[in-house]
Amino acid sequence: MRLTGPPPRGEGCGVQVFLETGRLVLRRFTESDVDNLVELDGDPQVIRFINGGRPTPREEIENDFLPAFLDYYRRFTGYGFWAVIEKSSGAFLGWFHLRPPPGGSPDEPELGYRLRRSAWGKGYATEGSRALIRKAFAELGARRVFAETMVVNVGSRRVMEKAGLRFVRVFHQPWPYPIEGEEHGGVEYALDRAEWEQQEAEAAGAYRPAP
Ligand SMILES: CC(C)(COP(=O)(O)OP(=O)(O)OC[C@H]1O[C@@H](n2cnc3c(N)ncnc32)[C@H](O)[C@@H]1OP(=O)(O)O)[C@@H](O)C(=O)NCCC(=O)NCCS
Repeated sequence: MRLTGPPPRGEGCGVQVFLETGRLVLRRFTESDVDNLVELDGDPQVIRFINGGRPTPREEIENDFLPAFLDYYRRFTGYGFWAVIEKSSGAFLGWFHLRPPPGGSPDEPELGYRLRRSAWGKGYATEGSRALIRKAFAELGARRVFAETMVVNVGSRRVMEKAGLRFVRVFHQPWPYPIEGEEHGGVEYALDRAEWEQQEAEAAGAYRPAP
């Protein structure tokens, strides 16, 4: 979808918007986002629970990460990685993904997010996650949306809960990097279509539990 109105401040013409929330624009990444991603992944606090806090080298962003992000737009309609822009400032805040996991089913997308530290604590991850979950079920034909994080990533788990996902399981897998708290494992949260429809009905005040 092309942006029909004026582009968000700080963004050039031709920006391809995926969706908007009250405070955020989620747009496609472009090849011009290298610096944004280098800065995001350059903060050890941001990637603490991703790789133990090792800043991602620029070459990896240029040669691996960004090409992979861009490839999603070729491979899928509606799924991929989306750059987050703060409407009020035009600033790049980070990204969300809603994508079939590698080797996974296209109707069972995985939600994920990574925001710069200055954007934390404002409800942005919850706001974007809710909008993506809605998009997945209402427009993209998803059967189930899930998300995973480390057990010890309390902030990420809270976002999942606030976005309406439900705890599914704790799992253990080898992590490619040593990460503080890895011995506690990972956790999966998910929501299926029927649960989402029930949440929507409750939110609209239409849901009446059976007597
Ligand atoms: C996890 C992250 C996305 C949260 O983003 P955010 O925009 O600050 O989250 P929100 O403001 O929507 O907060 C949602 C809830 O989580 C809570 N929360 C957020 N970070 C928290 C933390 N570090 N510890 C405890 N609670 C936290 C908030 O208080 C809020 O709950 P409340 O309304 O009950 O108070 C952000 O910290 C981040 O990008 N971290 C680095 C990357 C990362 O770990 N991504 C997840 C990998 S799986």
